[in-house]
Amino acid sequence: MNTLWKPLVYIVEKYTATNKIHTMESICKLQQELFPLLSKYHFKKVTDIPYGRYLIHQDDRNLFNIQIDVFSFNYTGKIHCHNTWGILHVFNGFLFVEDWNKTKEGSFFSRGGLILKDGSSQSFCPPISDWHKVSTGESLHQTISMHIYGNNFNLNKGIYLDDEFQEIEGYRSEFKDIETINKIIQCY
Ligand SMILES: [Fe+2]
Repeated sequence: MNTLWKPLVYIVEKYTATNKIHTMESICKLQQELFPLLSKYHFKKVTDIPYGRYLIHQDDRNLFNIQIDVFSFNYTGKIHCHNTWGILHVFNGFLFVEDWNKTKEGSFFSRGGLILKDGSSQSFCPPISDWHKVSTGESLHQTISMHIYGNNFNLNKGIYLDDEFQEIEGYRSEFKDIETINKIIQCY
């Protein structure tokens, strides 16, 4: 792993070593602890980075993983869930995050949304529903975000809703070479 990411991995590793049960409160504390560090990462340039997923770190026991997502322009994703705790942080551009809820009867409704600007983070933790959808709007700035996902996250497959709001399983895209990101990011 590039030394650039070591302070970030260290904080999350320390969190997972001392917290076996995750709550919205504990994840919120982790988000607050990460915040000063995350604000130190700066991109040297952000033009035409190949969109996709880049893996920073995967924990040996799958207690957590950290990824970078580079979005295509005008991106609108499907409603999906992660079934674990997580923190997402926007480094560049912005993300519109729509939150969805699943009723006991199995239907879905939108319960709100927010715009995460560059430098902002959001966290989620079961049992609070983490069904959500992200989009980048028509911004001319390429959106780059960092995602920390908790225990038992499946790096290869995800659960999505199709156009009829039926839950379907789908394969995630292959990871791209993290060196592409390491070359253009600085921590200071
Ligand atoms: Fe997500």
